[in-house]
Amino acid sequence: MAGNLDALFKPKSVAVVGASRKPGKIGYTILRNIVEYGFKGKIYPINPKATEILGLKAYPSVKAVPDDIDMAVIAIPASKVLDVAKECGEKGVKVLVVITSGFAEVGNVEAEKKLVEIAHEHGMRVIGPNIFGVAYAPAKLNATFGPKELSEGSIAFITQSGALGIALMGWTVMEKIGLSALVSIGNMADLDVAEISEYLADDENTRVITIYLEGLKPGTGQRFMEIMKRVAVKKPIIVIKAGRGKRGAVAAASHTGALAGMDQVYTAAFKQTGILRARTVEEMFDWARAFADQPIPRGEKTIIITNGGGVGVLATDAAEEYGVPLVTPSEELKQKFRETMPWFGSPRNPVDLTGQAVVDNYVKALNIAFDHPDIDNIIVLYCRTAILEPIDLAKAIVELVRERGEQSKPLLVGMVGGRDVYEAMQYLNEHKIPAYPSPERAVSSLAAMLRYMRYRNRIIC
Ligand code: COA
Repeated sequence: MAGNLDALFKPKSVAVVGASRKPGKIGYTILRNIVEYGFKGKIYPINPKATEILGLKAYPSVKAVPDDIDMAVIAIPASKVLDVAKECGEKGVKVLVVITSGFAEVGNVEAEKKLVEIAHEHGMRVIGPNIFGVAYAPAKLNATFGPKELSEGSIAFITQSGALGIALMGWTVMEKIGLSALVSIGNMADLDVAEISEYLADDENTRVITIYLEGLKPGTGQRFMEIMKRVAVKKPIIVIKAGRGKRGAVAAASHTGALAGMDQVYTAAFKQTGILRARTVEEMFDWARAFADQPIPRGEKTIIITNGGGVGVLATDAAEEYGVPLVTPSEELKQKFRETMPWFGSPRNPVDLTGQAVVDNYVKALNIAFDHPDIDNIIVLYCRTAILEPIDLAKAIVELVRERGEQSKPLLVGMVGGRDVYEAMQYLNEHKIPAYPSPERAVSSLAAMLRYMRYRNRIIC
């Protein structure tokens, strides 16, 4: 079966069944994205009414294609999907990506069952139906009808909500959140969130798996837990589970009592399986950014280095609240930090370089933090001041990390200020130093890393 999932992420050839001739239609957009994002494999538009689409020869059916097809993306009306699935099976297609809506989500349960039956009879796997597609950046594959471009990186995102997934594609580009894979799972008729996660756990291009989940299919909870336990040992998993509160539960499925109770079951299950539960999309990607670009912590002891007392205090509060232990510097360590700051600074934790701090103060303090064995994790904070341009600090941090070579301690940055601070954060994020627009978000992300470290240490030891 794993071979078939290779066909989902790294197909050698893709057919788009229902590749429309008309710009703006879903089948056209999927074909255009596959072509224009730069897929290097073979692409076959399938449309009985066309001879050529987007400069590619079109075929009337998959069977007319004179070549093997690994993946068939299906974007034709539901009434025609089963016949096409059968043809795909006979052709030897390995995986069906069924975009089409109108199956179990509207009560058409039998057709959905039949679809999976046909697929399995022919050794095919199905993703969907009712999805916006699949993208895998390392293969330059964007078989979705979302935006054409992806921000490439090592975060995999699996989503049960199509609209949210499409919306977040654009948002991740803007926020410089790099994705390896983007998978819309829709009705989960065959492949589900657990099986996709299991595949991505062994994917060398993915470092962290993020999931937007509304609910599991009845009877699949145990299997989900078993698989996710195995996945979590290999890679961090962050889930945002919608329908948390009573009203949210009603919105998700209109059965208040049962689902509100269910939410506690999910919380317990996530805890047992090492899944990190985020409350918001923002939080999920904040944490994911840290996992994607920084090493997993080796210990708990954290130092905060700041140029502003206020943000230092806020970070200290957040550390206490989220469970991030702050190191109490020894006299020897304090003496080292003292040499990096004016006489009125503070070498305690937070290390306060004061509003007078320039690049050199930060660089010296950071080098001490990286070198000192009493410190495991580093949070750098910056408040906009007149004497230190944020971009200069960002560049110095990137340069320092580059010069030091392999990074053994996580470094997260929190910055507060206006547009130029935002640009400096973008620069840091582009260079794989996670940067957040508040001290709390940096601390929350480190806290997630520590929770994961504790879980993994418990399981592995
Ligand atoms: N094989 C290949 N192509 C076929 C075909 C077949 N058996 N039957 C029809 N086609 C062609 C059509 O001729 C058309 O091409 P054209 O525009 O060049 O004429 C194209 O396939 C699409 O068929 P059409 O009947 O126009 O369907 P549509 O584009 O209006 O709708 C879906 C198809 C899949 C988009 C629609 O049924 C659907 O499910 N929409 C919702 C999708 C969605 O939201 N998914 C979930 C997202 S989260």
